[in-house]
Amino acid sequence: MHFTTTLLPTLALFTLTNAHGYFTTPPARQPGPAYQQSCGMQAYYQMSGDINGNIQGLTQTTKNQPDYNPSTCRLWKCKGLKYADNTAHVQKYSPGQVVPMVFDIRAPHTGSANVSIIDITTLDGTVIASNLKKWDVYASTASSIPSDEENFSITMPTTLGSRCAGPGKCAIQLFWDAPSVEQTYESCVDFEMAAAGKRHARDFGVGRGLKD
Ligand SMILES: *[C@@H]1O[C@H](CO)[C@@H](O)[C@H](O)[C@H]1NC(C)=O
Ligand SMILES: *[C@@H]1O[C@H](CO)[C@@H](O)[C@H](O)[C@H]1NC(C)=O
Repeated sequence: MHFTTTLLPTLALFTLTNAHGYFTTPPARQPGPAYQQSCGMQAYYQMSGDINGNIQGLTQTTKNQPDYNPSTCRLWKCKGLKYADNTAHVQKYSPGQVVPMVFDIRAPHTGSANVSIIDITTLDGTVIASNLKKWDVYASTASSIPSDEENFSITMPTTLGSRCAGPGKCAIQLFWDAPSVEQTYESCVDFEMAAAGKRHARDFGVGRGLKD
């Protein structure tokens, strides 16, 4: 008999407790048709309703869904969200560039986090540059959120050569693990970055051995 009166507050609470965090700047991956095709409609509805949700929740949602394709969905790579749905949002950076970012923590859960660059052409997004930012304690519920956890910058690595040259090769991934609630969140920003020092090839060892 309480159902009708508690339905709305319960839904509101559900939304709140399932909102955790996501990049708002630069634009991060969003769900689209490619996501539907790989991860299924239930995952699509969940991410469309609340992009902040956790990977364990998605694992539950997709389990036993006939349109969930685990071999292409890969929930542990950008929450399964697809490059193909986000080709309009590929950022362009250069090696050494300082990139300001905003990660919106919608609901804190004590954990740890890091920002890395992943090779999106591999099945699970191999990390090719790690700890561009790193927090041993992140989104602690014991204190208010330090501004550096939401508003921070990373410096693009100068060590990647041409690995990120061209779209569809690399993404910036924030990985936040919250053992306190057994939840993990990811948020990915697609980008391309030309190789460093194209005009100064000798600085990178090209031709070395001929002259020095
Ligand atoms: C980060 O900056 C935004 C405004 O750009 C602000 O609303 C937010 O409170 C800041 N976060 C923290 C934790 O200070
Ligand atoms: C950092 O993030 C990567 C995913 O981008 C994850 O595999 C790794 O476990 C994280 N490292 C730590 C120390 O949490």
